[in-house]
Amino acid sequence: MKTAAILFSILICYGFAYSQAVVPSVRLEKSGNTARLMIDRQPYLILGGELGNSSASSPAYMKPCWQHLKEMNLNTVIMPVYWELIEPEENRFDFALVDSLLDEAARYNLKLVLLWFGTWKNSMSCYAPAWMKTNPRRFPRTADSAGRSQEIFSVFGKETLEADEKAFAALMRHIGARDASKKTVIMVQVENEIGMLSTAREKSRVADEMYKEKIPVALAGYLKKSKDRMVPELRKRWDAGGSKVDGNWEEVFGKDIGTEEIFQAWYYARYANEVALAGKKEYDLPMYVNAALPRPGAIPGKYPSAGPLPHLLDIWQVAAPAIDILSPDFYNPDTRYWCDLYVRNGNPLFIPEMQFDRSAAVKVFLAVGRYKAFGFSPFSIESPSEASLPLSRSYALLSQLSPLITGRKWLAMDGFIFDHKNKGDTIRMGNYTITLSHYNIMPWAAGRRDSVWSATGGMIIQTGADEFYVAGTGFVATFNNTDQGKVTNILRSDEVTIADGRDVYGRRMNGDQDHQGRHIRFATDEWGIQKVTLYNSPKEIER
Ligand code: DGJ
Repeated sequence: MKTAAILFSILICYGFAYSQAVVPSVRLEKSGNTARLMIDRQPYLILGGELGNSSASSPAYMKPCWQHLKEMNLNTVIMPVYWELIEPEENRFDFALVDSLLDEAARYNLKLVLLWFGTWKNSMSCYAPAWMKTNPRRFPRTADSAGRSQEIFSVFGKETLEADEKAFAALMRHIGARDASKKTVIMVQVENEIGMLSTAREKSRVADEMYKEKIPVALAGYLKKSKDRMVPELRKRWDAGGSKVDGNWEEVFGKDIGTEEIFQAWYYARYANEVALAGKKEYDLPMYVNAALPRPGAIPGKYPSAGPLPHLLDIWQVAAPAIDILSPDFYNPDTRYWCDLYVRNGNPLFIPEMQFDRSAAVKVFLAVGRYKAFGFSPFSIESPSEASLPLSRSYALLSQLSPLITGRKWLAMDGFIFDHKNKGDTIRMGNYTITLSHYNIMPWAAGRRDSVWSATGGMIIQTGADEFYVAGTGFVATFNNTDQGKVTNILRSDEVTIADGRDVYGRRMNGDQDHQGRHIRFATDEWGIQKVTLYNSPKEIER
């Protein structure tokens, strides 16, 4: 009996330990092209900012920054870990710097996403340790288009990969041992903006030989099964070559620079996958890679070729299943255009880098509202900027709305941005058409029209058939019933703040503030949340 009891408890303990092991306490809960980041089973919206590249190499430099970041209403800081500083000599690891930064972040109740500045950082290998950089025989480099050696390690360097895996595993083991109960670190980026320069693929003896080989079996298997899943960019290229599942790279994808990019992407992704796997084995956190988006019209190699770009989504996903997300970095290209391209093939949106100008404060509404991004993060966040205050005001609204957003307690949710070029938008929610416009377009803002068209925007969350939360800055929203026989009016609109998920009512906004019941509006220097209830009357009045 006693033995049975002991055996039973062993089984229970084993079962408990097993369930702990298979359900990591920080994980991504994916659904379609969206995901929620779950921390201890609670959804978490990353209101983040990424540090400038060198800041986290000095705790003294960072010291005054933490308070500033907290005051900007960030809940998460995206912070590099530099390979050369954690492994200054081969196999001698030093985590003192990492530890001190983890402690500071925890002291300010900030979460961290770590950037693994490993083999590649913006294509280059500048953060690899000196003992690697100075040993090109062991850690081969690539050649540029003129055939000159460049400080970009080859993706085919066997020992390079082994060294990266070992260092990354050591880092993740250390983070797991130190932080698994605190969960200050919630996600990790593997490498940084991987991409080949100045050619579309590596040009070396090994690379040339590999390029002549048949495409990998895993890729052939994917092509065979997934023609309806593929992004149209890849499908078009594959169809043009006769939809082959057997043959070398050029036989399957055509003889041009685009195929060279696909080839390179496959091996970059395999490499990133191996590094991620080595780390996840030690401590299983969600992991992503980020991409430098190309300038319009640029060819691969002129932009960092073969990174996790939208036209290579399938390639990266098949070659790197251990990478959970492919993320875009935004330095002023068309936000909507690129976001549309990233939320495909089950890839959710997380924006680790965004140009830190005033528009970031409203692009966050577009990212979260329209694309259901689970995180957003302007770059060089600690640098004082005129963009800091607007962003902190948007983050203040989003941290209040976060339980509603991430708890999925809504019927519909959308986000929008306006500027001097895009002055208006129309969205549908339930029975309503909502006409939105930049605040300056309205007659009462006539004086401002020719002067400042600061970026404005916001989001609308529908929580009942006639109930909406409208939040943001510098826009006007007018609601109309889709039934032409009905006239919609505002029954009430209240300014609200949300504390711990509960509405705290402020002013009733039914006079000038909602233009005597016509629209919901926020001036360009005003940020707020209004809770709105609509009602409908027959269009024809009874006579
Ligand atoms: C994108 C990179 O990922 C960052 O590390 C940084 O170099 C920025 N570009 C600079 O604009």
